[in-house]
Amino acid sequence: MSKVNLSTKMTIPDLQRMKAENRKITMLTAYDYTMARLVDEAGVDVVLVGDSLGMVVQGCGNTLSVTVDHMVYHAQCVARGLRRAHLVVDMPFMSYHSREQALDNAARIMRDGQAESVKLEGGEDVCDIIEAITRCGVPVMAHIGLTPQSVHAKGGFKVQGRDEVGAARLLDDAIAVQEAGAWSVVVEGVPRDLAAEIQKRLSIPTIGIGAGVHCDGQVLVINDLLGMDTQFKPRFVKRYATLEESIVGAVQSYLHEVQQGVFPDEKHSFRSRKTNARRVSAA
Ligand code: KIV
Repeated sequence: MSKVNLSTKMTIPDLQRMKAENRKITMLTAYDYTMARLVDEAGVDVVLVGDSLGMVVQGCGNTLSVTVDHMVYHAQCVARGLRRAHLVVDMPFMSYHSREQALDNAARIMRDGQAESVKLEGGEDVCDIIEAITRCGVPVMAHIGLTPQSVHAKGGFKVQGRDEVGAARLLDDAIAVQEAGAWSVVVEGVPRDLAAEIQKRLSIPTIGIGAGVHCDGQVLVINDLLGMDTQFKPRFVKRYATLEESIVGAVQSYLHEVQQGVFPDEKHSFRSRKTNARRVSAA
């Protein structure tokens, strides 16, 4: 693997150029400093502080529990770990339902959370909000298709755009968010041929999750990529590690060694100064 130049910050024009040059954009979530530092060092182009933190950090069944305060806190932690990747932060559930509220919350996420873009869910229905936010100079990544904040309205986490009417609506949504000023769009839970059509029709980058290989980039939740919950196995997730096993195994080794009085051994503990002094005078 080639060494990543961490001194060049990824900008929105860089990311848009990647689409034009047919180079794939990589994006991953992170919720804390350490993970942000590691994915940045690995060379990811975009880091998302996703409201998926409601599920993988807070342990809730969906993302609705997440507040702007939570997003700001996690964004601050992640921002400290990044040198190269562009930082996108989710606007959580009900934080952008009026223009005024959307502008206040986008300002908090940018100013206090040190975000470089905000992401919000919805298509034609949120275009007035996207326009208002982008007019203030805040870059917006849109998010269409399976939008987890609408889990109850949509009757669950379901693939979208499978029939003709749904597919046509999604294509309209994609074009609408681009026209409203979004610089990119996440396309989630959409059949791959429809995602390919959206990718072709848009000039802004499409970032897929559960949307096939033809998007301009891909995003995954870092916990899923690392295999931190082996019970969670949706079709679109590929595990590149099995950290659940590694972590449980390492913790069990520690427990065993503590219980047996094996840890800490001499190598992992300190000698007293007195012993050292006696050694010096005896030498
Ligand atoms: O919240 C999140 O992590 C997301 C990604 C899965 C796209 O929105």
